[in-house]
Amino acid sequence: MSIPKASDVKSIALLGFGTMGHTWATALLLGDLDVHVWEADRKMADTNTGRVRGYLDSMQKKGKFSGDIDKTMARLHHLKSEAELSTCGAPILLEVIFEDMKLKLDVFTRLGKAMPKETIFWTNTSCLDIEKMAVASGRPDKFIGTHGMNPVHLMRGMEVVRHPALDSAVLELTLGMMKRIDKDAFLTDNVPGFIVNNGLIPWLIHFVNMLQRRQATVEDIDIAISSCLGHPQGVFKLTDFIGINTTILVAEELHKATLDPRYIVPPLLYDMRKAGWDGFKTGRGFWDWSDKKNPKPVAYDKLCERKA
Ligand SMILES: NC(=O)c1ccc[n+]([C@@H]2O[C@H](COP(=O)([O-])OP(=O)(O)OC[C@H]3O[C@@H](n4cnc5c(N)ncnc54)[C@H](O)[C@@H]3O)[C@@H](O)[C@H]2O)c1
Repeated sequence: MSIPKASDVKSIALLGFGTMGHTWATALLLGDLDVHVWEADRKMADTNTGRVRGYLDSMQKKGKFSGDIDKTMARLHHLKSEAELSTCGAPILLEVIFEDMKLKLDVFTRLGKAMPKETIFWTNTSCLDIEKMAVASGRPDKFIGTHGMNPVHLMRGMEVVRHPALDSAVLELTLGMMKRIDKDAFLTDNVPGFIVNNGLIPWLIHFVNMLQRRQATVEDIDIAISSCLGHPQGVFKLTDFIGINTTILVAEELHKATLDPRYIVPPLLYDMRKAGWDGFKTGRGFWDWSDKKNPKPVAYDKLCERKA
């Protein structure tokens, strides 16, 4: 069967509705697509569905969205099981589950057998080997990396990861879809961390190490980076948005792939994970997000406090 044109695609099947999955869904809804979601964690699915509505509402108040919110939300369909992904009729499956190669390989092996053979697979991995997953899916020619930035509905950049077995028509379709959802797509080879995380992760780690040496505070480092280097969120708010666990998983993966010491995870990140401080989504990371509009920096001593 031939690969569809981007303009003919009406819906996307989405696996995972966590930090990235729900903002991907928002971007796809804004691109007039139907989204069929399977999220294993019911509570996460409910909370993040509320967040999607909140984003549309806030965009409407700012004059950035003129559609009907209820009608747009009606295009978001929650599935009852993973099996329903293969019968929902979407020509593209987008995987946005945890950054864990074993889990992703399991999922792609399973879905490679269950999904219609013409379905195209996108993975939103931050750094994992696309070719390994492409082989597991049993359809390497139809498998491509689409690394969106957080939150996908607001960030324009979209890293598209190619590899030798990829069908050029799938690449063309993917780039066409990125235009449809108003993203600036750029291409990268399948190298560890692609372009973005190859450079971003050592940079984040550098400032966590600086904090560990108590050379500056969370707040002052973020002010320095936002006001002098033009990164609006600074380093630590950005890490909180990415999530401490995801940052650790990406850094560990890159260290394993490259043996480059710049990817060694600082102990402070492990301490924070142990304490359940996963950043924005748990309400606490380098910043305390109890009041989301007015976050407060967490002092170093608090950062290092461990749960019993
Ligand atoms: N967080 C970021 O800023 C960011 C940015 C770019 C890319 N990514 C990548 O996006 C992917 C997802 O990261 P995230 O931050 O959204 O993680 P997350 O932990 O917030 O969400 C993952 C979701 O997937 C669900 N899930 C896991 N296994 C599942 C399964 N088998 N079936 C159904 N649902 C399942 C979980 O319940 C969870 O809700 C990762 O590959 C990550 O590296 C993350």
